[in-house]
Parts: sequence; structure tokens; C-alpha cells
Amino acid sequence: MTKKILVTGGAGYIGSHTCVALIEAGFEVVVVDNLVNSSIESLRRVEKITGQFIRFYRGDITNKADLKRVFEDHNFYAVIHFAGLKSVADSVEFPLRYYQQNVFGTLCLLEAMQQQACSKIVFSSSATVYGEPASLPILETFPTNPQSPYGRSKLFIEQIIDDYCQAEKQASSIILRYFNPVGAHPSGEIGEDPLGIPNNLMPYICQVASGQREFLSIYGDDYATTDGTGVRDYIHVVDLAEAHVKAVDKINQVDQVQWFNIGRGQGYSVKDLIQAFEQTNGIRIKTSIQPRRDGDIAEYWADPSLARQELGWKATRDLKQMVKDAWHWQQKNPKGYEE
Ligand code: NAD
Ligand code: WQD
Repeated sequence: MTKKILVTGGAGYIGSHTCVALIEAGFEVVVVDNLVNSSIESLRRVEKITGQFIRFYRGDITNKADLKRVFEDHNFYAVIHFAGLKSVADSVEFPLRYYQQNVFGTLCLLEAMQQQACSKIVFSSSATVYGEPASLPILETFPTNPQSPYGRSKLFIEQIIDDYCQAEKQASSIILRYFNPVGAHPSGEIGEDPLGIPNNLMPYICQVASGQREFLSIYGDDYATTDGTGVRDYIHVVDLAEAHVKAVDKINQVDQVQWFNIGRGQGYSVKDLIQAFEQTNGIRIKTSIQPRRDGDIAEYWADPSLARQELGWKATRDLKQMVKDAWHWQQKNPKGYEE
């Protein structure tokens, strides 16, 4: 029988790509999303790519009645939990909103799962839980020290899930700590669609390339890195989506909770990313060196070997593919899903 997966936040950037990967792997997908940072159009596009209908609930995970309805209508094999707010800067300004949406939202979700005896959850965590690492690459066993309310909300959720899985005999969880997801589905049908001015590097580069922004600010060129600019472990969103399929495949064999870094294990600087974009896509990106951005770390990248050994997952798409697919999506959808 086809296994049904509930995807919270499934209309969002990573959620929509994961819906494609799940459907292609033979799962049935149900999405709950309040569309606070996404558009229903993304799911229509997922349907177009896969040829499969997606059952969608417009609902809020902090609303117990919304969740009850979803769980009463279906029996889920597992939940993949993306729903939440993700801006580091906003979380500093509105910490209570972040704890409410992310932490309380997850509590409501776990309660609804408990009531319906659904006991498997894959959770979207973030490399931001590590804070500044003492050495590189980062292993899952490194100490955690998140530097923002957003990062702390992710760590609190991890701990709540851990406690829950210790207490409930049937429960198990896989916690994926993503590094820097970028790129888009190669069809150009789905991709990242930030509201307003992008905070993140790749969508900003794409908007400079398309003429929507005049230049890219490079936040600091005096870090102790190869070329002075910040270094990150960029990972193609389709590789990331595939990690979720591997996690769902594995979750039944997990005793309580397992944590995995999801990155490529390779660091690229801001200048590397710009250069790859320019060379691959044949477009010049105008830049301006600006002061460092508050809270930024000089460099970090993952050791993803545990995910390879235990999940049988490995990223296969390189930087060239990331910048190519990001630009393809941008060109096809200059205003994101709005059109
Ligand atoms: P996104 O904003 O595109 O997707 C999140 C989705 O959740 C959106 O569709 C939004 O409408 C929905 N949502 C938010 N609050 C909700 C609520 N209360 N009820 C129902 N739906 C709600 O973000 P994304 O980049 O796809 O990220 C997905 C998850 O991965 C998030 O939890 C994020 O924190 C985590 N993550 C993202 C990154 C990244 O760089 N994109 C890195 C690490 C972790
Ligand atoms: C990458 C590099 C910037 C924009 C964030 C969150 C993190 C995670 C992923 C959710 C840095 C530089 C950026 C620009 C620049 N999200 N930059 N000009 O900060 O590594 O991670 O997204 O969990 O929690 O903090 O990603 O894309 O913003 O920055 O020079 O206009 O690009 O300084 O070195 P970051 P980013």
C-alpha cells in the first residue's frame, strides 16, 4: 500500500522540492501550510512536474483544530516537519513570534501525532544550531551554541522531539541539520521565492542578474578565509529533498532519535559563488564590498559522512548545477510565483 506522508510547510521552498522527491519515490503526499511565506501555486507546479494530485490543507500548525482535521482525515506513515519561520534577523526583532510559531507549533503537531498514534517525524533543523565551531568540518557530535532566537527555537525543538521520543515507546525521529540550501528544480517550475528583499546570497545574486537589484553587497572581505569573504557549505535543494526520502525510508529502523548533517562537505566563499554564477550563466554580477553583517560566522562546512553511512545519502549536484538551476528558475519566474 502507498505510504502517506504529511508534509507541514510543504508549499515552501524546501517543502515543495521534497514533495516532488517523495512523489517520485512512490509516496502519497498531504500538505498543511498557512501560506504565510509561500504560494499555493508552488503545489500546482509540483502537480505539474509529477502528474499527481496533492491534498492540501490551508491550516496553521499552532491551531489545534486545523491539525485535528488533517489527522482525522488520514492515516500517516510519517510526518516531515518544515513549517515555521526562518529569518534570523526577524527572530532577533520578534523573538516571541519565533518561539510561538516554531516551538509551540511543534508542540501542537506532536500532540496531534500522539493522539492519532502517528509516531515518526523528520524535522528540519539547521547548521545554525552549532554556532561558531571550534574546528572544521562540523560533526553531529559538536557542541551546540545557536546565536539567535531562530537558532535557539530549532535547538529547543530538537530537544523536545528527543524527550518525546524517549518517553513514547513507538516514537522515532530523524533530525536533519541543513547547511545552505540553494538552487531550484531543473524544470524551473519551482524554486526559492523570497518575500521582499532577499536576505540570502543566492536569491540576491539572481535578482541582481535579472536587473531587479543594482548590485550585490558583499558583507566583509576581511575574514580569515581563502579570499576574505564568508565561506559556506552550499547544497542543491534537490539533493536536500532526496535526503528526506532517505530519512523516511530509514525512520522505522531508528531507535528514538538520530541527527544528520545535510551538506556537501565543501566550503565555497561568496566570491566563489559569484564567479561560478558568472561563468556558468554568462552574466556579470555587480558587487560592492560592505562591512561584515552582524552575527555572521567566517566559515563553516559539514562533515556529511554519517548521512552517507547511515542513510545511504550523498549530494551529487555541484556548484555549477546550483547556480545554473537557480538562474533558470529566476529567468522563468522573474516575479516568483506571483505571475
Ligand atoms: P519556507 O518559508 O519557504 O517554508 C516554510 C513553510 O512553512 C512556508 O510555506 C510557510 O508558509 C509555512 N509555515 C510557516 N509557519 C507556519 C505555520 N504556523 N503553520 C503552517 N505553515 C506554516 O522555508 P524553507 O526554506 O522551505 O525552510 C523549511 C524549513 O527548513 C524551515 O523549518 C526552516 O527553518 C528550515 N531550514 C531552512 C534553511 C534555509 O536556508 N532555507 C536552512 C536550515 C533549515
Ligand atoms: C551566505 C554568505 C553572507 C547575502 C542563513 C541562516 C541560516 C540558514 C541558512 C536557516 C555569508 C554572505 C549574504 C548578501 C553577502 N537558514 N552574503 N551578501 O547567513 O550562511 O545562513 O541561511 O536555518 O540559519 O543564517 O546564509 O545566504 O544569508 O549568507 O555577502 O547579500 O553570503 O555574509 O557569508 P547564512 P546567507
